[in-house]
Parts: sequence; structure tokens; C-alpha cells
Amino acid sequence: MLRSFLGERLEMRKKITKNTILRMKEQGEKIAAITAYDFLSTRMIDDTGVDFILVGDSLGMVIMGYENTLPVTMEEVIHHLKAVTRARPRAIVVGDLPFMSYQASVEDAVRNAGRLVKEGGAESVKLEGGERYVPVIEAIVQASIPVVGHLGLTPQSLHQLGGYRVQGRDKNSAERMIRDASALENAGCFAIVLEGIPWQLAGKISAAVSIPTIGIGAGPLCDGQVLVFHDMLGIHEQPLPRFVKKYADMGKRIRDAVAEYVGDVKEGRFPAKEHCYSGEIKKSSSGAADEKNEDTG
Ligand code: KIV
Repeated sequence: MLRSFLGERLEMRKKITKNTILRMKEQGEKIAAITAYDFLSTRMIDDTGVDFILVGDSLGMVIMGYENTLPVTMEEVIHHLKAVTRARPRAIVVGDLPFMSYQASVEDAVRNAGRLVKEGGAESVKLEGGERYVPVIEAIVQASIPVVGHLGLTPQSLHQLGGYRVQGRDKNSAERMIRDASALENAGCFAIVLEGIPWQLAGKISAAVSIPTIGIGAGPLCDGQVLVFHDMLGIHEQPLPRFVKKYADMGKRIRDAVAEYVGDVKEGRFPAKEHCYSGEIKKSSSGAADEKNEDTG
């Protein structure tokens, strides 16, 4: 079943655009999204038939080792976007606008969204926040750049929120979030990430807007789901939030493999004969020692 589904999707290999994403909601097809930050992972991810690749500011933690997303710069996002878009994925590529690249002015926002597209190759951009960002979103869309919104637990507002807390648990904030989602839709967003909110509220928002919602810690009633690559593969050691499903324990596998290599080197088991090139050292006409040439393959 999975094979034939994947086979069908991969055969089509039709580039996914914002219109495809919008159509998926209309047709009731769930949207599978994941983060990516480099060329080879993007190739692997895209081979699976994923629909939406986010070069998220989560790179601050999983790539750069920052404590949160706040220090992430435009240059860092562009650097990783370049690596991802060089893989020419079929999935739509969304570049995250980092903290302070769009908050200070509409002009900053348009210029920085433009940089993600022009320099990084992004096909759309994502920014965090509700109604207050309507002028920013409208201006970016006016510049012909598709925008994804992000509501709920918005990590760039970490200090304002007082920590990583589930949002929208009381009536007022839940109603505000529903209004925010409609405002984002009216401003021209083609999708909204809903992070860290009760599943019931995510269901209400998903029913209230005609653009797709993509949940992370927002339950099954969203139109799609997104996970951070390193979280779902169990690559890092941080305790994972309950909304993450760990699909592999790659951290352990990588550690085991590298430890085996280190042991092999220390004990002289690597390199073995099959890893070596042979060739006699001959005297060249100049008299200098010269090795017979051989391909490295
Ligand atoms: O930066 C990121 O990876 C994100 C996702 C968690 C949605 O914004």
C-alpha cells in the first residue's frame, strides 16, 4: 500500500507549488512537511514524496547549537536555503524569516523575504505572528512572494510568552487565534503553521479558514503536519516534547558507528587490505620517486 502510494507520487514528480498546497486542502489530502538544512538530507527527504520542506530557524538549535531561535541570522538561513535548493526538491521550499528580519518595518520584511528568494532560492517564506503582521504579509505577497503564517507557540516570542507553553487554552486567547488565522488568510497567506495549541482549537481554526493548517503539537485535525528532521530521527540528546514521534534512533546509530570506527583505528583493524591502493614506487625519468597512478573509486 505504502509502496504503491509512494511509487505513484514519485512517478509524477510534478513540482509542488503554493497552488498544489491549496488544492490539497480542497481535495482533503493531508500535507506532509519536514524541516531540512542541507543538500544530502534534502535529497533523501524529497525522495519520500514529502510535500513541503521548511528551512526553519530551528537550525539555530539543531545546526548551530544556539539555545533558541533568537540569534539566527539572515545569512545563516540563506546559507542553508542554498544547500537545500541546490538539491532541486520537488517539494515546495519555505524559508523561515529569522527574528528581527521582519518585526521592525514593512520595508525590512519585504527586503529580507526577497533575499530568501533571490539569494537562497526559497519559493515562499514563513513568519510568526497574527493580525499585527497583516501589513507585513500583504506587502510581501504584493512583492510576489508566497507567505506561510505561524500562530500559537511562536518560538521567536519566547520571552513575551514566558517560555515554551501551550497557547490558546483560555477562551479569549483561543478566540483571538481564530481571528488571527482569518486575518492571515485575508492578508494572503497560503498556509498557516499551528504550533503548540490544543487539538480542539486547531480543529476549529482548520475549519474556519480555507487555507491549509500545518500542525506541530496541534493534533490530528490540521490539514498537514510538520516535524523537525533531527527530532523525528532521534538525532539529538535533548528530551523531546510529547508531540514528537521518534521514527528512528539515529543518534545512537551514529554514535555506535563512529565508536566502532574509532576502535578500529586504535586497534589497527582499519584500514584493511580492501581499503588500500597498491602500486610500486617507481623512479621517474627525473629520478624522483613517483607512484603509479590509480583511480580512487
Ligand atoms: O523553525 C522551524 O523548524 C519551525 C517549525 C517548528 C514549524 O518553525
